[in-house]
Amino acid sequence: MRVTERGERPAWAGPEIDVDRPSAARVYDVHLGGSHNFQVDRDAAAQITAAMPELPDILRANRSFLRRAVRYLVGQGVTQFLDLGSGIPTVGNVHEIAWQIDPDCRIVYVDIDPIAVAHSNAILQGAFNANAVLGDLRDPDRILADVKDLLDFSRPIAVLMVAVLHFIPDSDDPKGVIRRYLDAVPEGSYLAISHASLDGSAPERAEAATERFRNRVTDFSMRTRAEITALFDDVELVDPGVVYLTEWRPDEGDDIGDPKRMSQFAGLGRKKQAGN
Ligand SMILES: C[S@@+](CC[C@H](N)C(=O)[O-])C[C@H]1O[C@@H](n2cnc3c(N)ncnc32)[C@H](O)[C@@H]1O
Repeated sequence: MRVTERGERPAWAGPEIDVDRPSAARVYDVHLGGSHNFQVDRDAAAQITAAMPELPDILRANRSFLRRAVRYLVGQGVTQFLDLGSGIPTVGNVHEIAWQIDPDCRIVYVDIDPIAVAHSNAILQGAFNANAVLGDLRDPDRILADVKDLLDFSRPIAVLMVAVLHFIPDSDDPKGVIRRYLDAVPEGSYLAISHASLDGSAPERAEAATERFRNRVTDFSMRTRAEITALFDDVELVDPGVVYLTEWRPDEGDDIGDPKRMSQFAGLGRKKQAGN
């Protein structure tokens, strides 16, 4: 059913969803080959990729990092995940990866985009240990109140901020936001971050893609490797530290290619013991 000049409104897109404006979650879905997007999202994705043809590879590498990080965390005995900026569910979601190893893992997805949350809930229907919550991660008090009964805050929780902090400008104090989540979780909890950067091998192309993204979709804050590393100030970084996506604990046989081509860094840290 066509409801606007540009967009079509399928059954899964409620009236609160603006089908005439691209959203970060749906543009990402286009890049990953998903089907939960509109023509405006596809147009924006095409424009951005024209400026930076390696972008779809970078986003796939980002999903791979997420998978490896979740597997690592479950291997460390972490069974709870707070996935902030979780996106539209695509194959290889956190719950799928975690449940393959430990079906008792609990996962809470949080996203600012109603489509991402509606789809996550549709996929999770009937699952008693996974939920999706609509919310803005920049409001930790609100998010923590909303999820307090969905996770056990006396046991370690992995806070995931994967490919989302570049949507949070310095004026919104990303470090302060991270600290608030880390303050709420117990020792033995973890923080995972991946983040876009101009420090890769094609800064001019990354800058051009960012500019198009800003014009078409939403604000975007590239950070240097040093700035991204500073986001981990309140945790102890796990080896190999903050590295290009494909360099982070690659699986045996993974082709890490030219890591700098990825223009995106990733890292994982463990909450420091009190007093350290
Ligand atoms: C690039 S996607 C990343 C999805 C997933 N974390 C991954 O790495 O595959 C970024 C997601 O962050 C969400 N997002 C952006 N700003 C947000 C905010 N302030 N609070 C919560 N989610 C946000 C977007 O809606 C989008 O779904």
